[in-house]
Amino acid sequence: MSGKNEKMSAKITGIGYYIPERIMTNSELETMVDTTDEWIVTRTGIRERRIAAPDQAASDLGFEAAKAALKNADLDPKELDLIVVATVTPDMALPATGCILQDKLGATKAAAFDVSAACSGFIYALTMVQSMVGIGHVKKALVVGVEVLSKITDWEDRKTCILFGDGAGAVVVERCPQGEGILGTFMQSDGSLGELLYLPGGGSRNPITKENLEQRLQYVKMKGDGLFKYAVRSMVDAAKSTLVEAGLTTKDVDFLIPHQANIRIIEGVRKRLKLDMDQVVVNIDRIGNTSTASIPIALGELNESGNLKKGDLVIMVAFGGGLTWGSVLFRR
Ligand code: UT7
Repeated sequence: MSGKNEKMSAKITGIGYYIPERIMTNSELETMVDTTDEWIVTRTGIRERRIAAPDQAASDLGFEAAKAALKNADLDPKELDLIVVATVTPDMALPATGCILQDKLGATKAAAFDVSAACSGFIYALTMVQSMVGIGHVKKALVVGVEVLSKITDWEDRKTCILFGDGAGAVVVERCPQGEGILGTFMQSDGSLGELLYLPGGGSRNPITKENLEQRLQYVKMKGDGLFKYAVRSMVDAAKSTLVEAGLTTKDVDFLIPHQANIRIIEGVRKRLKLDMDQVVVNIDRIGNTSTASIPIALGELNESGNLKKGDLVIMVAFGGGLTWGSVLFRR
């Protein structure tokens, strides 16, 4: 039991994920754009990705991941105080996908909203929820990272369409004494580099009009080489900052869960943090880049594998559009 003035934190008590059934292989992409399996594997590490069904939206994928996380935590949705959904592919602009998910789950007591921080969204949402739970405003929360990137992908643009996939991951977060659960967090942004990865259409700058649709503004645009320059350095800085905050070093880390953007970025981060490859959770070969969903899906797979033991120290590190980057360090 905690004393009245004891500082509190938050811990992950349930983990779940969902990936759509349909697999799109590199050979299928070879029939769609001017690319090769060899180029995609060498440059990115991706062999296949999952694609949502035409009638599946973010809340549908998020619902499946949320159910799995709640089951893992043995928690009734009615006990949730808060639902935060991180996504850049919400069902629609209004209402928030968090609210749609709240209704699907029957989480009648919960407040719900969305967070938009691209590939770092899950880390940003978890960081914010950890503070709210620690302060005591919230006791039990659900954090979901979900993307249906296939619906904002330009399937004629070989520079982007080979990268992205769909999926969702979720965690249940509950109060715990400080020193347990989440031990360190870090978030940073650089809006001056926003045009390295952006989706110009569909908002108030370029609303949906015939002209904007003809210019394909409804699809995500990316300057991959520009992003690459910042990715490794930002992720390493973020990871080190959380470790310093917790008074720990990379030698204490059991698992690294990096955002799955490119196997070469993952390898660069691993090397600079001086970790072994078997400490790094990698699923980019099977799942592709699912933006904000990539870390919670990888966490879900690690948990399911049985390799994640109580007491293990896990560092999750993200980097993406915005630019945004961040990290969460926790003990299982
Ligand atoms: O998740 C959010 C954060 N995202 C990232 O951090 C992504 C970071 N960037 C990357 O992962 C890499 O930049 C990519 C995988 C996106 C691209 O790899 P790259 O080694 O940077 O390739 P590039 O864009 O410099 O392109 C090299 C060449 C170009 O041809 P030229 O101009 O040298 O003749 C491209 O046109 O490869 C060509 N290319 C392709 N060729 C075959 C680009 N895409 C393809 C393709 N198939 N799909």
